[in-house]
Amino acid sequence: MVQENHLPPLRIVVVISGNGSNLQAIIDASQSKLAVEICAVISNRPKAYGLQRAVIAGIKCHTIDHTEYSGRETFGAKLKQTIDQYNPDLIVLAGFMRVLSDDFVRNYPGRILNIHPSLLPKYRGLNTHAKAIAANDAYHGASVHFVTETLDGGPVIVQARLPILANDNVESLAQRVQDQEHKIYVEALQWLSQRRLIWSDGALTLDGKPLLQPIVINSEEVNEPQIV
Ligand code: GRF
Repeated sequence: MVQENHLPPLRIVVVISGNGSNLQAIIDASQSKLAVEICAVISNRPKAYGLQRAVIAGIKCHTIDHTEYSGRETFGAKLKQTIDQYNPDLIVLAGFMRVLSDDFVRNYPGRILNIHPSLLPKYRGLNTHAKAIAANDAYHGASVHFVTETLDGGPVIVQARLPILANDNVESLAQRVQDQEHKIYVEALQWLSQRRLIWSDGALTLDGKPLLQPIVINSEEVNEPQIV
């Protein structure tokens, strides 16, 4: 998609492990308003449904089955080799359920994005919905962040925050959070594709202003960012 500002679309490689609903949201948006070119989809699981979504959309697919590699380093080396043939601007982790090696991450400073189903820094790692319910939290949500060597610890760009309802269980909460994930992931990619969001020397700026805290979307709607 050609942008009004004449910037070329952002070249991305999407890395998945499973269903690929976030991938689908990015595919759908790329066919309308989002200026990204999805160069390839890579899955570490051969049966990931997201691979079928990519095939339907006519996107090149690769499977790199992590069980065939002796460790994180060898898997990461193969992942890097596969990614680099596309020379992407950005690597988009979308439900990718492996921890990447430090060596892999160091290859792409400021060029790996992830979506995590919690209001980081709360609940890094797995089972975030159950943890939020067990803690009686009033709010839960999802975060889009840059990936650093610290697991789920890189700078957060945008968060979707929603209330935990009295009758929520893990499944209902996960579904509501996922609906928001799709919106904020596309939104963050939009800012990056428009070069409005920049991470340089460890500092984030949005529209030329330092982004010292994540943008928090407090409703089930994603609006234009309010920077204070
Ligand atoms: C998402 O909830 C994401 O936050 C988590 O894994 C899930 C992947 O869902 N890391 P999908 O594969 O995009 O449907």
